[in-house]
Amino acid sequence: MKRTLIGFLVALLFIFPCKGAVQEYQLDVPYVPTPYEVVREMLRIADVGKDDVLYDLGSGDGRIVITAAKEMGCHGVGVDIDPRRIEESRENAAIESVTDKVQFLRQNLFEADIREATVVTLYLLRTVNLKIRPKLLDKLKPGTRVVSHAFSMGEWEADKTSEVSIDGGNYHIYYWVIPANVTGTWEWTIPTSTGKDHYVLKLYQQFQELKGTLLLDGSGIPIEHEEIIGDKLQFTIERKFKEQTVRMLFTGRVSGNSIVGSIKSEAGSVINPSKWKAQRDPSTVTPIDPSHV
Ligand SMILES: C[S@@+](CC[C@H](N)C(=O)[O-])C[C@H]1O[C@@H](n2cnc3c(N)ncnc32)[C@H](O)[C@@H]1O
Repeated sequence: MKRTLIGFLVALLFIFPCKGAVQEYQLDVPYVPTPYEVVREMLRIADVGKDDVLYDLGSGDGRIVITAAKEMGCHGVGVDIDPRRIEESRENAAIESVTDKVQFLRQNLFEADIREATVVTLYLLRTVNLKIRPKLLDKLKPGTRVVSHAFSMGEWEADKTSEVSIDGGNYHIYYWVIPANVTGTWEWTIPTSTGKDHYVLKLYQQFQELKGTLLLDGSGIPIEHEEIIGDKLQFTIERKFKEQTVRMLFTGRVSGNSIVGSIKSEAGSVINPSKWKAQRDPSTVTPIDPSHV
């Protein structure tokens, strides 16, 4: 009786293979390779160099990663959920003699750890770009470049675009730089001849679009030309010194909850003191992607 039961279970395993033997993954995007001319334009627009770490999310046969490693000498990581693509990529890397520079990981792109990337390439779908967008903005370091073949990121406008024509067909390329999240309330003081000025800057940000209000010793003054590119913040204000209106340009590097930078007057002469160092109240930070949950 026991033997019959075991035989029956073994037979069942052949008829209905166990989970490991069936396809346990689902593609969010079908496999379609990017033409090599477009691959090279994607690498050019992102200015990929030997010190970069390039991640291709949904890496197909590995062509973007392998081309970047071979032609720019950078390190590359390809992530694909389909084991056939990973196997093919590893074979292609061996043929092109770049196995020491590249890695292919069989993973779901939504689960991949992408924090070390300095460049991310994508050829997915618009819906998939929109789904991965909060992760890109949240996990990638400010200044990381993102390039997408064919598909935009919805309301996150591209910083640059490009187009490649092949045999009468046009291929679109979108490029973004990950902005630091500078939302929230920043404060700093600057010594003056009569004491010190106390600044409180509130910044509101959606993607790379920035707006702000500034209080100087409790009085509101307009800020203009506010801009965040990667980790570089800048804005200008106008101040009255005696009878003279002076336009001051603040530039600074953002690192977590601090900004360190310099101040220049409109004419380019350095204002004394020329440095500013701001701190942010971490509880005032908000996501820069409105679809972030
Ligand atoms: C349009 S192809 C792009 C291939 C390559 N990046 C290129 O540009 O030539 C999309 C790739 O994404 C992979 N893919 C689809 N869904 C995925 C997922 N959830 N995680 C990782 N890879 C996925 C597919 O297997 C396919 O190789």
